[in-house]
Amino acid sequence: MTILTEQPELGLQMEEKKIISSEIDGEINELVLDGGFVVPKEISKNDGIVAQDIAVSNEAFIAPEINSFGQSFRDYNAESERHKSVEEFYRLNHIHQTYDFVKQMREEYSKLNRVEMSIWECCELLNEVVDDSDPDLDEPQIEHLLQTAEAIRKDYPDEDWLHLTALIHDLGKVLLLPSFGELPQWAVVGDTHPLGCAFDESIVHHKYFKENLDYNNPSYNTKNGIYSEGCGLDNVMISWGHDDYMYLVAKENRATLPKAGLFIIRYHSFYPLHRAGAYRHLMNKEDEENLKWLQVFNKYDLYSKSKVRVDVEKVKPYYLSLIEKYFPAKLRW
Ligand SMILES: [Fe+2]
Ligand SMILES: [Fe+2]
Repeated sequence: MTILTEQPELGLQMEEKKIISSEIDGEINELVLDGGFVVPKEISKNDGIVAQDIAVSNEAFIAPEINSFGQSFRDYNAESERHKSVEEFYRLNHIHQTYDFVKQMREEYSKLNRVEMSIWECCELLNEVVDDSDPDLDEPQIEHLLQTAEAIRKDYPDEDWLHLTALIHDLGKVLLLPSFGELPQWAVVGDTHPLGCAFDESIVHHKYFKENLDYNNPSYNTKNGIYSEGCGLDNVMISWGHDDYMYLVAKENRATLPKAGLFIIRYHSFYPLHRAGAYRHLMNKEDEENLKWLQVFNKYDLYSKSKVRVDVEKVKPYYLSLIEKYFPAKLRW
């Protein structure tokens, strides 16, 4: 179980080690917004299904019957304790993630001066990040990554970029580790949302924004804030976390992934957009297209947390070949 404790704002002293949690956490967004598992109805094989068709059928999820432990229901007490720690997580997230904080994080991490390693090395490193707060996921992270990637590969055999995107989408969680700055959880995981404009009501635990410095800033608290309609998400400051970090790493190391892949990595935790439809007025045409792929990806991200084990050694050569195709051998992190 995750124990979150109060901590000072990171400010410029980010390099200082701040232990804020006894355990490493992840996928908090899913715990909050999904209220359990979702599994898709039968998806037919990839006979000409395009992203749009899948995205539209997103509504057609049915309630799950079992989680990865084969349990129908979670323990009531465990559930309420979990809720409390998740709420505390979002309280800290909503207070500390300000426009200035995100700007500072982007500047700091775009230096990419911490570690040099390959994508696969990072997958293995992520195994040190154990998500004990998620009762539906007790496998090492690399299995979650491979389960997601393999599930997509089955339904979209020709979209190799999508398989690789799935494999690497959570690598940014290494921000929790000491050599990456050991950022607190509220700066790494959970749902993301824009800064520089009003906080949409659909954002989970919205009430805690009242304590955010930006909340009463007249430049930031209108519908468009500092942005204009249709400006494109590229121009929008999104709360800092593993999504934006991994996007930065991929972009700065000149990954040749298609734009939709980079979009998935960057916005997969942006639940207010892809679940609630908030902030769509800031999107441009390209974002609209990419969003369809994100919605395809997203259900595999949730669905694949199952007991279906993936033989890592067996699938490794395939993923190494994709890494070689789309990434340099060593990346700066
Ligand atoms: Fe994630
Ligand atoms: Fe994930």
